[in-house]
Amino acid sequence: MAVTAVPLTDFLGAQLEGIDLSRPIDRQTKAEVLDLFHAHQVVVIRGQEISPEGFIRFAELFGAIEPFFISSYNHPEHPQIYVLSNVRKDGKPIGRDGAGTHWHSDSTFTEKPSSVTLLHGVEVPARGGDTLFVNTYDAYDRLDDATKALIDGRRAIHRYQQKEFVFSGDREVSAEERAEIEALKARRLAEAAEGGPSPTAKRSNTVPDRLQPVVRTHPVTGRKALYLNDEMTVGIEGLADDVAVPLLRRLCDEATKPEHVLRFKWQPGDLVAWDNASVIHTATFTPPDLPRVMHRLTIEGSAPV
Ligand SMILES: [Fe+2]
Repeated sequence: MAVTAVPLTDFLGAQLEGIDLSRPIDRQTKAEVLDLFHAHQVVVIRGQEISPEGFIRFAELFGAIEPFFISSYNHPEHPQIYVLSNVRKDGKPIGRDGAGTHWHSDSTFTEKPSSVTLLHGVEVPARGGDTLFVNTYDAYDRLDDATKALIDGRRAIHRYQQKEFVFSGDREVSAEERAEIEALKARRLAEAAEGGPSPTAKRSNTVPDRLQPVVRTHPVTGRKALYLNDEMTVGIEGLADDVAVPLLRRLCDEATKPEHVLRFKWQPGDLVAWDNASVIHTATFTPPDLPRVMHRLTIEGSAPV
């Protein structure tokens, strides 16, 4: 049976149908999935009650799975899987909480950032915990010529910093939810003050800055895309900070206007894969009393050019 794609919007994302993940995936299916992935940049398969092995098998379609650079939240039986969760057992988080709540592409502060990220929604909240996506090919294409001339060939300075519970990605937050966010931030700050720094806080600012192109050429499609990490870019090589910092902020603001955002609302068992070379994403707020457990795998990438 051929794989088909139903677009999620007219600018990004598709739901794939016709893949049976309970069985090994043949070469023809793999080729179809990869073609659809590069055409749509975010692909979704809904309602998959798969085992961690099934999730790993699906991820391997996209390349070699890489270990996450902080091992504290690895799945106990399948250490390739990184657990994202707001659930606590005996007062201890079972996964990483509050991460990725700003617009970014994954692991841009490393030499070879992840090419593809995959999430499996093991337990999803009835409210919140959405993932938002923006197409950065289009974001680049929308820029005026003067801006393109200013950034083409330049490199931004990426710095790994502790950025949990930032919640800067989602613009569509009600006053009630903003109050919930501020209460959660205050609670987590107080816990950190009492319990000591988290594994990510310890790692923060310990890795060297990384220079990455502001405009990257996609390694498969050859198309140009903006390469952004709001909150973790601190400047642009060769530009004064009073020019570079507002410019980086403007690029992200313009890219992520609400009309360009795909908002993905999770259902249990959903599998999502996205292309870090042509998409940026952010997580939204999850109410702390609603459990969310996501399994994450990332695929080895190449140095951006
Ligand atoms: Fe992320």
